Amino acid sequence: MTPIRPPFFSPVSAMETALLKRREMASFRSLSTAHSAIDFSSNDYLGFALSDRFRQIIASFGAAALAPGSTGSRLLRGNSLFAETLEESIAAFHHAQAGLIFNSGYDANLGLFSSIASRGDTIIYDSLIHASIRDGVRLSGARAFNFSHNNTSQLNERLKAADGKGQVFVAVESVYSMDGDEAPLREIAALCKLYGANLVVDEAHATGVKGAMGQGLVYEAGLCDDVFARVHTFGKALGCHGAIVLGSRVLRDWLINYSRSFIYTTALPPASLAAISSAYQLIQENPAVISDLANRILQFRKDASCFGVVGLLPSFSPIQCVLIPGNKEVREVAGALQKAGLDVRPILSPTVQSGKERLRICIHAFNSPAEINGLASHLGKLKYADK
Ligand SMILES: Cc1ncc(COP(=O)(O)O)c(C=O)c1O
Repeated sequence: MTPIRPPFFSPVSAMETALLKRREMASFRSLSTAHSAIDFSSNDYLGFALSDRFRQIIASFGAAALAPGSTGSRLLRGNSLFAETLEESIAAFHHAQAGLIFNSGYDANLGLFSSIASRGDTIIYDSLIHASIRDGVRLSGARAFNFSHNNTSQLNERLKAADGKGQVFVAVESVYSMDGDEAPLREIAALCKLYGANLVVDEAHATGVKGAMGQGLVYEAGLCDDVFARVHTFGKALGCHGAIVLGSRVLRDWLINYSRSFIYTTALPPASLAAISSAYQLIQENPAVISDLANRILQFRKDASCFGVVGLLPSFSPIQCVLIPGNKEVREVAGALQKAGLDVRPILSPTVQSGKERLRICIHAFNSPAEINGLASHLGKLKYADK
């Protein structure tokens, strides 16, 4: 059928123009199934996703408990006693009053920030905060201000400037996903206390990594009672999928009533809940894997220094970044490492600020000392400018 009138503009040609620009800027994103042999890029820091023991624990739930579908939203038929008891046990593990599971960390941040604040409130966030928090903040309609990364005197200024009419929230990550460094949580919590602000901490990259059993940095810093909410994700060190928001029982009820990314979606299936439960069992069965990881990270930093690797950012987390400004430049270096069998990925702008492009190296408990030494040695030989 001939349309009554031609479209005002063609979305396809506008898309093609924008995509072409991305190609020209060397920032075109594409999916790839090619993975080099040695994993230095996955978020599977503890190796759970590959672990036979993990699969064994999951299998012990039995076929009936491993149903692939939940059949509805948690508010309809998608809820279960299993989901509720799992939330209680995860909350207890992290020393929180209550928890609510979301289908992913993205959903958790979106649903948390968009529902806890609204017009008239203020959200102050670290400039390196994850995209899922930015999106949640935008959806909330609250006034939003950032402070430069980990700069507590600027946070102090922002808190002082907040007008005190609405509620004030401060959003940080405990371990930053693209730099790998930690937030000065004690200082930030003290400032929040001083100004009566509510602290929200995204623990995505601290879960399973920080704290004797992987309880996270808030727990390790003794701040469980000083935060308004925490987000722990299961798709990184815990090797599965999903996330939980931890906080008070009132917060849990609030999210069940107002968090749209919780309400309007099919709940995680029993199979996913079994995997989450198994991951928590596995980490408590073998907490030594966390110190194995810490030792591998220390080795990498020592080796990198011995081989004269330039541009390495300060970090004691599994995320070790080497700054190589320029999309083309960082892609080339990553390509050379991949050819050598080392799976290291480049992080390009606009994912990070232009000029801050980097290799994002993930160290794992299962990377052998020889693999880590080989990576540091390769990096030390490659020629690139770090400024
Ligand atoms: C800091 C941070 N928060 C949240 C998320 C989202 O978690 P998920 O992958 O479970 O959606 C990520 C993942 O990239 C992250 O790095």
